[in-house]
Amino acid sequence: MSDPLTIETAAAGDIAAVMTVMTEAFDPAFGEAWNANQCLGILGLPGVWMLLARRAAEPLGFALARIVMDEAELLLLGVRPAHRRHGVGSKLLERVTAEAEARGAARLHLEVRDGNPALELYRARGFSQTGCRPDYYRGADGKSFDALSLTTVVKK
Ligand SMILES: CC(C)(COP(=O)(O)OP(=O)(O)OC[C@H]1O[C@@H](n2cnc3c(N)ncnc32)[C@H](O)[C@@H]1OP(=O)(O)O)[C@@H](O)C(=O)NCCC(=O)NCCS
Repeated sequence: MSDPLTIETAAAGDIAAVMTVMTEAFDPAFGEAWNANQCLGILGLPGVWMLLARRAAEPLGFALARIVMDEAELLLLGVRPAHRRHGVGSKLLERVTAEAEARGAARLHLEVRDGNPALELYRARGFSQTGCRPDYYRGADGKSFDALSLTTVVKK
């Protein structure tokens, strides 16, 4: 039997594990990954939290989020390619949503590159599009992509 998936709040001491996921999860063509200093910098701010999913000791995925007043935002969500489509991203998103609600959020927002398969996950989890920034992202090949703003209600 395989070890259970655990999702714990991550602290500064977990940054190496988070970066292991980060470097594998985000396609360098789009420059969406953050470096360790960026993560540590934001982690020190009020209302910011990070979750790390592991199986046994192995880090599989992470999420980074923040709340200001009653508006929460999912900043990053990543799962290592070899561990995708097994529900890790969904479980992290569920935990972010639950924690956002516990912290007093009315809504959870995020922004995603148009065409990112993550859109399927977000739409399936009740997010709907609230905005669009045309040509916000540019790939390594120079092709541009819109940034889509999505929102879900977390407190009914
Ligand atoms: C988006 C991401 C976090 C999803 O993680 P995951 O662990 O594979 O997600 P799940 O297994 O929970 O997927 C749940 C559902 O979302 C949808 N989904 C997820 N990835 C998908 C894909 N590549 N294509 C189509 N649908 C997808 C499916 O409906 C899936 O259910 P199913 O597997 O039963 O069909 C992962 O693909 C990732 O790290 N992507 C790169 C980083 C990124 O772009 N993050 C989002 C922007 S911050």
